[in-house]
Amino acid sequence: MNHIDTILSAAKASHIPVGESGLWFIFRREINRDRVVDYRGQERILPAGEITYLMRTTMGTLHRDPQGEVVMEDTIFELNTHLGFILKASGNVLVTGLGLGCVVRGLLANPNVDHITCIEKSEDVLKLVQPHMPKERLTIIHADALEWTKDNDFSFDYAWHDLWTDQGEGEPHLDVWHMELITNCINKVENQGAWRLLRPFKRKLAKGGINLVA
Ligand SMILES: C[S@@+](CC[C@H](N)C(=O)[O-])C[C@H]1O[C@@H](n2cnc3c(N)ncnc32)[C@H](O)[C@@H]1O
Repeated sequence: MNHIDTILSAAKASHIPVGESGLWFIFRREINRDRVVDYRGQERILPAGEITYLMRTTMGTLHRDPQGEVVMEDTIFELNTHLGFILKASGNVLVTGLGLGCVVRGLLANPNVDHITCIEKSEDVLKLVQPHMPKERLTIIHADALEWTKDNDFSFDYAWHDLWTDQGEGEPHLDVWHMELITNCINKVENQGAWRLLRPFKRKLAKGGINLVA
């Protein structure tokens, strides 16, 4: 297995048991053959195999089966959106949002990463996922990352931000939170990035002299 395959395989969430806690649940399905699917508005080939999803029931998804919005999935195209950061990261790394733990396990498979601190707000996500995460080189903190990054003194070589918002409940666009996190981490983190940050936000950060890792 090459380095990238090792990281992608470590990032998979097949070992996290199916279950539910509060409005959150882990759902798994088996795809028997390669399929063409719509992934965030683009046609993609989904290879056969097992997919694990972290879902949250929301007002907007009550009519669906299963009743929930996909917060994270361990498909190859989703994992690829985090891969650039995982490969570049080294030293002491901050991750906001545990989710299925894919990014954290991918980072742990990168030998240049010494230690990861992961901040997760949802007690339900922690109940479902934390017991199945590695214990070495990893500290998981139960906190709101927006508050934690504002209120604490810390120093990291790299940070990756990947939260989730329920806009149906009036929460802000994800990029607004990611911008807030990046701003809170200025002068405390050498290199940082966020999941699929929109171009206008990237331009704004670049104007402020912040180099983003994608
Ligand atoms: C998209 S998932 C993260 C997926 C993760 N990157 C992975 O590899 O599986 C978003 C996560 O952020 C968490 N979250 C949302 N808001 C948060 C906040 N303010 N502070 C910390 N975690 C938060 C959610 O509970 C969820 O677990």
